[in-house]
Amino acid sequence: MEITYLDNAASTWPKPTAVKQKMVECLEEYAANPGRGGHQLALRASKELFYTRAKIAKLFHVKNPNDIVFTLNATAALNLGIRGLLKPGDHVITTTLEHNSVRRPLEFLKKEIGVEISYVKPNSEYIFELESFRKEFRFNTALVVVSHASNLIGALAPVEEIGRLCKEKGVPFMVDASQSAGVFPIDVEKMNIQLLAFPGHKGLYGPQGTGGLYIHPELEISPIMVGGTGSHSEAIEQPLTRPDRYESGTQNTVGIVGLGAGVDFVLQTGVDQIREKEFSLTYELMSRLEQLEGVTLYGQSKEVERAAVVAFSIDGLDASEAAFILDHEYGIAVRSGYHCTPLGHETIGTLDQGVVRASFGYFNKMDDVKVLVKAIQEIMEKLKQ
Ligand SMILES: Cc1ncc(COP(=O)(O)O)c(C=O)c1O
Repeated sequence: MEITYLDNAASTWPKPTAVKQKMVECLEEYAANPGRGGHQLALRASKELFYTRAKIAKLFHVKNPNDIVFTLNATAALNLGIRGLLKPGDHVITTTLEHNSVRRPLEFLKKEIGVEISYVKPNSEYIFELESFRKEFRFNTALVVVSHASNLIGALAPVEEIGRLCKEKGVPFMVDASQSAGVFPIDVEKMNIQLLAFPGHKGLYGPQGTGGLYIHPELEISPIMVGGTGSHSEAIEQPLTRPDRYESGTQNTVGIVGLGAGVDFVLQTGVDQIREKEFSLTYELMSRLEQLEGVTLYGQSKEVERAAVVAFSIDGLDASEAAFILDHEYGIAVRSGYHCTPLGHETIGTLDQGVVRASFGYFNKMDDVKVLVKAIQEIMEKLKQ
């Protein structure tokens, strides 16, 4: 059965051919340990890691590539930023549309060290009003952390405005770019972002096991993992230089090299073109689903720019069951259930049922929309019988 892949918000697939080629080239030619030895292969591996850092820096308008730290995924980057920064008694402002990878580290610190958390809700149209952030600031507010785009309904947060507010208040601003990196323009300077967490395996088209965190050069956070870095080996303390301070242990060289090719693809194709294509697919799917009686769409109207995710439910059919039928009978890969954001489900009123989520990447086609809609129509027909 031919697969229609509509789960790009989890991991994009397929990847550009160059990603695979670069990874194979690395394995065949220079997959030695970067930074652990002065021989040619180790130096080549180190160099290639730096190239990826430099490409990511270009994409996010980061001045010094060494302010970008590689991690296993966005979750690891979020943990490093959140747990490396917050101290006992600090207060954090976040939102009710966050992924568990933001919420759980915060709730963990609340329990462990008494961090206080304020959750800002969007209005009834899923728009975050700046005033609702402004009124939450306290004397001990040490961080504002917001996801750029919701993984559940695609709604965008006004990051530039929130960044300006954080600057005015002198509070570090962290952005979870899991659903926006590679799709929406991100400029850490213009948006006043001090911490930017991103996955490599979603909109940057790298392999799984890649991600990273940008840390503002003047922001001091503690590493949450220390150990061998291949540098200053005589010292018993973790080096202070970046990125070594935050990158202990052997890096995922093969994956990071693949990520570099993914970022090349994004830079060459253009973030605007990627977004326009994904938005046109999103718009088309929403337009078609809107016309089906018995299908409920969640989130903002189709006219509002959003990340390429469409959350919906089918009357009389559990979300997991719908996804199962789509997969097994039609070869359509979607995500179902709670999408790692129970708070988000509470916000959109789907806590007891979950939703089906279809999400697009650059390699999807209009035909994929047609295939999904036809399958949903057939499933609904069968339900009536
Ligand atoms: C908004 C958001 N934050 C964080 C994550 C976690 O990303 P990762 O799987 O790379 O850790 C995801 C993954 O879907 C996400 O959508």
